[in-house]
Amino acid sequence: MTSTHAFWLAGREATGEESFDVTNSWDGRLVGTVSVPTEAQVEEAVAAAHAVRDEFAATPAHVRAAALDHVARRLTERTEEIAQVISAENGKPIKWARGEVGRAVSVFRFASEEARRFNSGDAQRLDTDAGGTGRLGLTRRFPRGTVLGIAPFNFPLNLSAHKVAPAIAVGAPIILKPAPATPISSLILGELLAETDLPAGSWSVLTVPNDRMPALVQDERLPVISFTGSAPVGYAIMDSVPRKHCTLELGGNGAAVVLGDYASEADLDWAATRIATFSNYQGGQSCISVQRVIADAAVYDRLLPKIVAAVEAQVTGDPSDAATDVGPLVDENAAKRVESWVDEAVEAGAQLLAGGKRDGSTYAPTVLAELPDGVTLSYEEVFGPVLSVQKVDGEAEAFASVNSSQYGLQAGVFTHDLQTAFRAHRALEVGGVIIGDVPSYRADQMPYGGAKQSGVGREGVRYAMDDYTYERVLVLTGLAL
Ligand code: SIN
Repeated sequence: MTSTHAFWLAGREATGEESFDVTNSWDGRLVGTVSVPTEAQVEEAVAAAHAVRDEFAATPAHVRAAALDHVARRLTERTEEIAQVISAENGKPIKWARGEVGRAVSVFRFASEEARRFNSGDAQRLDTDAGGTGRLGLTRRFPRGTVLGIAPFNFPLNLSAHKVAPAIAVGAPIILKPAPATPISSLILGELLAETDLPAGSWSVLTVPNDRMPALVQDERLPVISFTGSAPVGYAIMDSVPRKHCTLELGGNGAAVVLGDYASEADLDWAATRIATFSNYQGGQSCISVQRVIADAAVYDRLLPKIVAAVEAQVTGDPSDAATDVGPLVDENAAKRVESWVDEAVEAGAQLLAGGKRDGSTYAPTVLAELPDGVTLSYEEVFGPVLSVQKVDGEAEAFASVNSSQYGLQAGVFTHDLQTAFRAHRALEVGGVIIGDVPSYRADQMPYGGAKQSGVGREGVRYAMDDYTYERVLVLTGLAL
């Protein structure tokens, strides 16, 4: 799989003067060479998006929905090919890459459904005071303007889909900037968009290098920025453009709480299997992978060996092998960073119960216990296949431990008790509480985003559509209400 890939400039293919290579982090092979737009080409794409914004906002819902349906259908038809590309460019095991394409299909399908029902308007009578006699308010939503979508490497197709599909659904032009490590799946998404009747200029996929992004971020013709990535980069973007509308999907250090009522053998087997799988899926490179297990003392001693066994059963290896659970990290530097954090924790007194070894860009699935306070792993997002297990005494201590993090993306709570579930929903300072499962559960239609340092705004198709638009009220006067 070696080819040179054009980028997409205002709906058509284009190449620039420079290019860069995308390599496979498992074996170092070349996956593809990708062309880089010149500054003039970037300007052309931004100007085209700006020029088409009113026309696109006025496009009938059925036109936008048909385009979104088309992309969903074509992603389905090309699933295997695109999954192979994701696996090659990202190092993600093929079974997870196939799952990612399936999720992107759903995102486009949800967006087409939402496009058909979005913005019918809310009517509000205003004759509640004498001055409002005969008046009616009609509130509808209108795009804020062109969206600059900045996608991460960890779900290169689906997190691009989460930016592109809602923008098309509301009629907002979008300029998508994929991650430099994983641009090819987004460029294939461009191929599918190019098969639709969307107006020229309404979308571009620009492989702009990171060091040229500040100029694009500053561009006033791009009033909405939707960024997924690390907290330092996300907040640097927001701080640099305080008057823009920014959605930031940032990091997490997902906690899975296992409470004392979750105590049968079957309960603990399920919890251990889910924790092991979702601490390690795609090498732990998900903002909602399990990093912290917070287990009640009533179950801790029985749960811990089950977790260790389930983690050791994870198959590490070649991502193109269907049997592989855990592939390499995105590059060797990422694996070295994870290694240094685990080494730091172990030197400070953490117990290493599984893993703890690096081989090139692959890091072995790792379990730690008795993690000392203050080590990097205790407060930062590891973004690698590492979990730590902590013993607590009761629900209150467990929830306080979840909330002790600077992050607040999602939390999982293993309990059978409905009252506990509602207390967790109230108490946990996160964007999503998952009962009976790990924090890593995500359905693409649900609101997704963080509290605290995990970001601002929400994705999840309908929620991003709200984010990309604002309410405008129409007041009608002199009506016979
Ligand atoms: C993320 O890493 O934030 C995305 C997780 C997901 O979509 O499952």
